[in-house]
Amino acid sequence: MVDEITRLKKERKATIVAHNYQLPEVQDIADFVGDSLELSRKAAKTDAEVIVFCGVHFMAETAAIFSPGKTVLLPDLEAGCPMADTITGEDLRREKEKYPQATVVCYINSTAEVKAESHICCTSSNAVNLINSLDKDREVLFVPDKYLGSYVASVTGRKIYLWAGFCPIHVAIEPHHILEQKERFPQAKVLVHPECTPQVIALADEVLSTGGMIKYARESQEKLLIIGTEVGILHRLKKENPHKTFIPASEEAICPNMKKITLEKVLASLETMEPRVTVPEDLRVKAKRAVDRMLAL
Ligand code: 13P
Ligand code: SF4
Repeated sequence: MVDEITRLKKERKATIVAHNYQLPEVQDIADFVGDSLELSRKAAKTDAEVIVFCGVHFMAETAAIFSPGKTVLLPDLEAGCPMADTITGEDLRREKEKYPQATVVCYINSTAEVKAESHICCTSSNAVNLINSLDKDREVLFVPDKYLGSYVASVTGRKIYLWAGFCPIHVAIEPHHILEQKERFPQAKVLVHPECTPQVIALADEVLSTGGMIKYARESQEKLLIIGTEVGILHRLKKENPHKTFIPASEEAICPNMKKITLEKVLASLETMEPRVTVPEDLRVKAKRAVDRMLAL
């Protein structure tokens, strides 16, 4: 199957990109594996004609926002993000009426419709710097992740209005998981994703995006790390750092949507050139403004 994917990939002039939470075998056949920011940068730059996006819908949509002339394949169209789906463009328009003075910042885990209604987009790796770069006199309306939003508010001291979305996978990582692992491995450092609750964040040594965790594991001297995020990232952490030990905060932190992409579906998508993700042109142009503003920072 891997040989067939490699052959078809060449024939179709395709590139395969994968998020850090993808299944190990899917990460292993990808040309590039990364976090949301790295993947959106990659999508903005690639000269491939076809992008096979191994991730969830909003990520493929971001690739389509940058590449109207390219074919963006999402091997399973059902791979969505429940947090992104907590808010529609119409919901955001109503919310903006409540806070007309606020700058609207959307997490990249949002639909193209929501990006089109936002001033600027952010990811978990640049949210703090991005909010700090905004006019200090303006309040911020942040959608859809209330936990990433409240974390950013606590670090920056800014007034941020929050939409009540959250990631069910990260919320299921509870303080007792971290405390139990810390008791078993007292010398370990704790890394958590900012989608975790404030109670979990309070127990962490570092709050990092998935790309930030990869970098920390590579560059720090620490040999033992407790990882508070989706367990798919452990494959890459272990592969890149064979002499270090990584302990999942919770073995149950599995995003079922990320796991919908399989090698079989990657192969089928290259064979049939379906399912495709497209964004209507008027929406694409508006959504791209918010992502371009982020990438310009
Ligand atoms: P990253 O941007 O840190 O890769 O996070 C994406 C995501 O979906 C987290 O749940
Ligand atoms: Fe969405 Fe959470 Fe899955 Fe990330 S881990 S894609 S935020 S549901």
